[in-house]
Amino acid sequence: MIEIVPSILSADFAHLAEEISRVERAGARILHLDVMDGHFVPNLTIGPPVVGSVRKATKLHLDVHLMIENPDRYAAAFVEAGANSVSVHYEACRHLDATLGLIRHAGAMAGIVLNPATPVAVLEDVLEVADYVLLMSVNPGFGGQQLIPYVLEKARKLDRIRRERHLALPIEIDGGVHRENLAEVVRAGCDWIVTGSAVFHSSDPQATVREMIQIAANATAMRV
Ligand code: DX5
Ligand code: ZN
Repeated sequence: MIEIVPSILSADFAHLAEEISRVERAGARILHLDVMDGHFVPNLTIGPPVVGSVRKATKLHLDVHLMIENPDRYAAAFVEAGANSVSVHYEACRHLDATLGLIRHAGAMAGIVLNPATPVAVLEDVLEVADYVLLMSVNPGFGGQQLIPYVLEKARKLDRIRRERHLALPIEIDGGVHRENLAEVVRAGCDWIVTGSAVFHSSDPQATVREMIQIAANATAMRV
């Protein structure tokens, strides 16, 4: 199932509930929340209290993307705050298997994130214990960047691997996706498509999400 997943990073935080209800009305079912610590990436965003407030404002699936050092220390707090899925960077985890276990034990889906330069090959043995994989299509830290084209080849590769192994593993992509490149992203095998600035910086976020859902549906029809 293809999902257009709005990232609130580019939303107006003073009117978050309204921004969320716009994309919800448009048909989005998953909301992406970017957590940055100023160490793993050169930017700071939100912590568990904001996730808790968002939880009260919506029933949408909350997908929390941790761009932080030492995710073991904080992952469970995000689940307690209401996250339905929590992803951690391969590059930030010393004991990735244990971290995924910790997230699942806390009650959420556990995802692995790969930076653009980290090859899909590192997932070979751990894939069976992940609930989804997030491929970064920009270097993490900021919204509004350009999609790095070689990441689509990584998506195709991962799509081939999951088919070979009969894994029902969603592939998420994050960064630089907009109306113009969306069809190509879907055809590369991505299922959860994060989009921040293309939605929240558009003049009508609700219409943009609707349109993106339609573009994705048309592109899926062409996927085998
Ligand atoms: C970047 C974040 C992305 C970002 C995507 O570090 O993980 O979720 O918000 O934003 P756009 O769609 O603007 O590239
Ligand atoms: Zn993200």
